[in-house]
Amino acid sequence: PTTGLDVTTQAHILELLRDLARARKMAMVYVSHDLGVIARVCDRVQVLYAGETVLEGPTRAVLRDPAHPYARGLLASIPRLGQRDLPRALDGRPPGPGEPREGCAFAPRCALATEDCRAATPPMIAGGADQMTRCLYPDRVDEITGDQAGTSPHGCAERSPCALDLAGVSIRYDRPGLLDRLRRAARPPATVDGIDLHLRQGETIGLVGESGSGKSTILKAIAGLLPPAAGQITLGDGTPLPAAVEARRPDQLRRIQMIFQNPDDSLNPRQSVAEILAQPLRLYFGLTDKALRARAVELLDTVRLGAPYLDRRPGQLSGGEKQRVAVARAFAAGPEIVLCDEITSALDVSVQAAVLDLLNDLKAAHKTAFVFVSHDLTVVRALSDRVAVLYQGRICEFGPASAVYGSPSHPYTSVLLNAVLTPDPDHAPRLTAEDVAELSPPARGCPFQRRCPVKCGDICDTDAPPAREAGDGHVIRCHIPLDELCARQTGEAPKS
Ligand SMILES: Nc1ncnc2c1ncn2[C@@H]1O[C@H](COP(=O)(O)OP(=O)(O)OP(=O)(O)O)[C@@H](O)[C@H]1O
Ligand code: SF4
Ligand code: SF4
Ligand SMILES: [Mg+2]
Repeated sequence: PTTGLDVTTQAHILELLRDLARARKMAMVYVSHDLGVIARVCDRVQVLYAGETVLEGPTRAVLRDPAHPYARGLLASIPRLGQRDLPRALDGRPPGPGEPREGCAFAPRCALATEDCRAATPPMIAGGADQMTRCLYPDRVDEITGDQAGTSPHGCAERSPCALDLAGVSIRYDRPGLLDRLRRAARPPATVDGIDLHLRQGETIGLVGESGSGKSTILKAIAGLLPPAAGQITLGDGTPLPAAVEARRPDQLRRIQMIFQNPDDSLNPRQSVAEILAQPLRLYFGLTDKALRARAVELLDTVRLGAPYLDRRPGQLSGGEKQRVAVARAFAAGPEIVLCDEITSALDVSVQAAVLDLLNDLKAAHKTAFVFVSHDLTVVRALSDRVAVLYQGRICEFGPASAVYGSPSHPYTSVLLNAVLTPDPDHAPRLTAEDVAELSPPARGCPFQRRCPVKCGDICDTDAPPAREAGDGHVIRCHIPLDELCARQTGEAPKS
């Protein structure tokens, strides 16, 4: 139930569920891809693979020392906050429903598999620390950890040419009626305002912020689906992009592609994968017949699906496979900029790791620039060169990922980072700001003024905070000086 929610809302809902369950002695069955959520709410865990329970046990044992190779692989697929490396995806895929299997369903992907594993489905046996495992060799699971190191994300040179520039972009949803205009009624503040972003070729900029902070709105404006009320969006060669998609030339449309959270919403269920990929190949490159098919196969190879998938329809694909088709379709256009809106939030951690790996490879091969929107701060940390933190449609912190996730941080960034869940049953998120729904940004002062846990006075309500430069392009918009912000985060006294 918390998939797709931002970290603070998710943490508040989980605390509520825990309190309710305790107070009412209520039993809960909680289904999730997110092992951080499982760590927070569950006493015991069952891990399923290919329709069978493969591991069962107390949460602490399953997350600390799982007695099954699949669970070990899942844990290695999770990006961690303090880690710059991309997590390692499990190789291969689970057998589909009705696909023939011999013995252990996990054997084709298991580094420990032997002939005995393939002879018959293993029974559930004791795996230590009160766990029951469907594995013949629970004592050998530790051997797998050695090769779990992930790959480093491809960085982008600081002097790389510009791919896209947003200057002072402001976006509104409200449309004043005639009477409002005649009365000159005051309009509410713009939903998104003053967005300056300079995206370099081959760079990934992560966009984070709670639900309603304006992430999708900014992506839609770049894609031409929502014309800005003010400001300018310019391509790297200096050409201003027409605000509305209808006014953009085919070449401008080709250069910017968008991938959505749910591939079901963007892939036509009646078209085969071949037809889905044929559209951009025909439209932008005039390919037909053999050349078109060859390019479609090449694209499917790039996303590690291959020719056997050409004739399948979306309904015959898993969630991860559908998202790969969506990635292949975006890349069929040969884009320079790819806008990703929550593209991994519906995927399990291993498929998510595979999709992140894929984007990283495509970025290196084609110098593609990405704007990557996600609620998951660990995923953004793993993939992004620079990160923008949005609150109520205003950028409150921007800079290299290592700086934004380090110290000093904007008070709102700290609230988000404190709320991140980890797959550690002994780690509790710290909820340092109320979860208050804000309908519109305040008319004056700091956008975060109503919820800020360290608000420094009336000035926060009246004056827009200054942009404080912390070096290396790291900017924090807050009335609190940087050394004081640093001291609050490290618990030290501020330098005089
Ligand atoms: N079509 C619309 N009409 C009016 N307001 C809208 C519309 N779409 C979005 N909004 C408002 O604009 C603000 C920003 O929405 P947006 O979808 O960009 O947020 P988001 O950061 O992508 O959130 P989420 O993480 O939930 O996807 C929200 O307050 C939302 O209610
Ligand atoms: S039974 Fe064999 S193949 Fe299956 S998980 Fe255990 S070691 Fe791997
Ligand atoms: S300017 Fe004031 S309200 Fe805004 S983040 Fe800083 S201290 Fe908090
Ligand atoms: Mg959104």
